[in-house]
Amino acid sequence: LAVEIKFARDPNWDFQGEDTQYLTHNFHPFPGKFIPQIPKKLMEEMLPNGGRVLDPFCGSGTTLVEAKLLGNPSAGVDINPLFILISKVKTTPIADEELDSLEQWAKGLTELAASLYYDRLDGRESGTIVEFQERPELERWFTVTARKELAFLKNQISKLRSRKLKNFCEVCLSSILVRVSLQDSDTRYARIERKLKPLQTVQLFQKKLDDMINRMKEFSEKAAAVDVKLLCQDTRSLARSTQLGLESFDLVVTSPPYVNAYDYHKYHRQRMNWLDIDASRVRRLEIGGHDRYTRKNADSTTYFSDLAESFSGVRRLMRPGARCCVVIGDGIVGGREIPTHKTLVETLMKTKFDFEAGVVRKVDTQSKYFRQGARIQHEYILVLRKPNS
Ligand SMILES: C[S@@+](CC[C@H](N)C(=O)[O-])C[C@H]1O[C@@H](n2cnc3c(N)ncnc32)[C@H](O)[C@@H]1O
Repeated sequence: LAVEIKFARDPNWDFQGEDTQYLTHNFHPFPGKFIPQIPKKLMEEMLPNGGRVLDPFCGSGTTLVEAKLLGNPSAGVDINPLFILISKVKTTPIADEELDSLEQWAKGLTELAASLYYDRLDGRESGTIVEFQERPELERWFTVTARKELAFLKNQISKLRSRKLKNFCEVCLSSILVRVSLQDSDTRYARIERKLKPLQTVQLFQKKLDDMINRMKEFSEKAAAVDVKLLCQDTRSLARSTQLGLESFDLVVTSPPYVNAYDYHKYHRQRMNWLDIDASRVRRLEIGGHDRYTRKNADSTTYFSDLAESFSGVRRLMRPGARCCVVIGDGIVGGREIPTHKTLVETLMKTKFDFEAGVVRKVDTQSKYFRQGARIQHEYILVLRKPNS
């Protein structure tokens, strides 16, 4: 390689102690999301006024929320329908009157649930709900009390007439799901004892919805009227698709899955079950997952070829001269540390990107996700460019 791949440590990118949960950013738990300050700063520095930005692994939509606040049209791609739903809700403004009516609806929920508690809350109203809550997997992961109340909430949400408000409430339901399940946490897939009082699940939902409504009011006031396109697709297939427009993006800001760090399909599985999302497709197509790379003889070759395929598709969508910023951390595969940041630069250079700069930033090691991701203390921001010709 003719170009030297150098990384500089830059504390300006650490953002230690800053609020990372403002506005809609805290709508839904998402271990491994990047802090909003990173895409914000990258867009402020590299995106022309009104320029289009793409996040081809958009996850919970951090880049897209920030683009909407800065006034730039954006697009996001992710393989997981749950994450597309979360991104959509976080970036879709809602009028105050609609939010006020939702607030009223939510106020009535506890009373309604209480009045139904001893007879109809088990869903006898609707055969499908009874059937749903009796699925063996749900019996394993939820107490009867939680199952009844979740079925009740699901049923109430299904009766809302506005698709926008339905989506909003589904994200709210999904956000409290792990807390009312027997799964330990969003970063530990182990079954634990958890006692829930009657109506606790409904009240948690109500409290979360109230908070989301207030945040959405503020977000809707600040967000610009720019488009956010969402595509639930395997990023590798961008190499064959023109849906988002060839050579139409002025900047790419993304954080691909880290190798062997997290199985999104597994940790979010119960959420997908309740929202009727098929987890098997996500499981099959997810890049970098723990399941595949944690085995003893695993090697990282396929991880890098998957990313090469993804980014060569992304490149087609970028304007000549546009930059591609990638946030990535190193990982451990087959017991060996993998310098993902360097290998990824080499991979992207082979995919016809020019390397411009590399920044090292300190990550918040208090975060469980990163402790589990073993020894990860730093992550890297790679800046590459699609050449002009
Ligand atoms: C590190 S997360 C991105 C988090 C995001 N930056 C945020 O702030 O929420 C990586 C994402 O890549 C997605 N992903 C994994 N394999 C994929 C594939 N083959 N195609 C598209 N997305 C994929 C995962 O579903 C996950 O949402």
